[in-house]
Amino acid sequence: MWLTYLISAILIYVIMIAWLSKKYPETHLKWEEINLDDVSFPSSFKWGVATAAHQIEGGNQNNWTEFEQKRGLEASGSACNHWNLWKKDFDLLEELGVITYRFSIEWSRIQPQEDTFDADALNIYGEMIDDLLTRKIEPMVTLHHFSHPIWFEEKGGFANKDNLRYWESYCQHVIELLGDKVAKWCTINEPEVFSIMGYHMKLFPPGIRSIPRTIRVMKNMILAHGIAYALIKSHHPETKVGLAKNVTLFDPIRRWNLIDWVTARVLDYIWNNAIISGLQGKRMFGFRVLTKKENLDFIGLNYYTHVLTSPFLPQTTEIQFPKREHEIMTEFGYPMYAEGMVRSTEKLTKLNVPICITENGVADRQDQLRTEHLKRHLKIVSEMIEQGHDIQGYYHWSLMDNFEWAEGYSMCFGLYDVNFETQERTLRESGKQYRDIIKSSVKK
Ligand code: FCB
Repeated sequence: MWLTYLISAILIYVIMIAWLSKKYPETHLKWEEINLDDVSFPSSFKWGVATAAHQIEGGNQNNWTEFEQKRGLEASGSACNHWNLWKKDFDLLEELGVITYRFSIEWSRIQPQEDTFDADALNIYGEMIDDLLTRKIEPMVTLHHFSHPIWFEEKGGFANKDNLRYWESYCQHVIELLGDKVAKWCTINEPEVFSIMGYHMKLFPPGIRSIPRTIRVMKNMILAHGIAYALIKSHHPETKVGLAKNVTLFDPIRRWNLIDWVTARVLDYIWNNAIISGLQGKRMFGFRVLTKKENLDFIGLNYYTHVLTSPFLPQTTEIQFPKREHEIMTEFGYPMYAEGMVRSTEKLTKLNVPICITENGVADRQDQLRTEHLKRHLKIVSEMIEQGHDIQGYYHWSLMDNFEWAEGYSMCFGLYDVNFETQERTLRESGKQYRDIIKSSVKK
């Protein structure tokens, strides 16, 4: 009798693993056999690069600068001094030949105190946008990229739903002045990274560990997205509004181990599917957050890697994650896995809106990997477009080396190398390659 039970249990287990493996395949390509230069992009494809205010501007006073001090992290300080050098940096955009540029507005500059709006700061962003438009570079402007004013943080930030009125009035001010000039807005950058890193991993401000608060922040950020969407569309119905979603894939480290599979699926829900459901107007973590389905004109995909899971997954990112034997480890401590761009894009197709790759790149100070990294990812993008996916553009992260949050200046993501003492920028070899790819694609 027990033998029958044992055999049935084994059989059920094998069937379950086979079903999971089929439903969630983990593709690996033989890259050495693939011609990375055999790519083609539609002439309308939007080539770009991305940055974020706190990472490049310098001289900010916000939740991050406070956290840097409190935690004894490397200070962002003058960063790339972009606040003063932006015109020169825009020359770099022209040198690369990009058609579009994604950057963010620093809320703490616009509204340094609860009752003070700084018109001059807002005007500088206006000048930046005008300058980009003169250069025929389309701005994609992010309203919140991880940083906000200290007074907002002290009131509980996005953990407190009542604070969304402050978010709304910030957005209103920005839209009033810049709404006419900007055709594409990205409301919030990576709500899952912001909430999980800040409220669970302790690596971003406010640096606490609370699962209920992590979930609350995620939900409130989706609400905040809905508020900004409605606000922008009510004034400018033609303007495109989206959100940048980091899609990290979770694959079981041992594909025969059910526990590793369960970990992968649970993390996939928390990190990816909850937000996708929220944006679809369905329940996220059991709650319906957005009632209207019209809250998205495009979805931004920030894709970097996959994480190999087991129940012993570290609760921090400050270690090397596991990798498959043949995979190349990047300086950030996660493997290069361009194949994952397929699954991450497919996840977002559920939202039924055009996709734009709003971030993709690699930390690589010596520039030994970036060209290969770039070309592998673009190869996948090119194939996906050929197969009919509506991928409208690609923003490389990043234009230049910058302040990489908890990692400070140790991680160099730039197509331009930055000497932070002299503020000199130098185009890396990979930057030249990207410039050439853009040139040949735009000509076609
Ligand atoms: C993303 C962030 C971006 C940058 C890259 C490396 O998660 O949006 O600001 O730090 O990672």
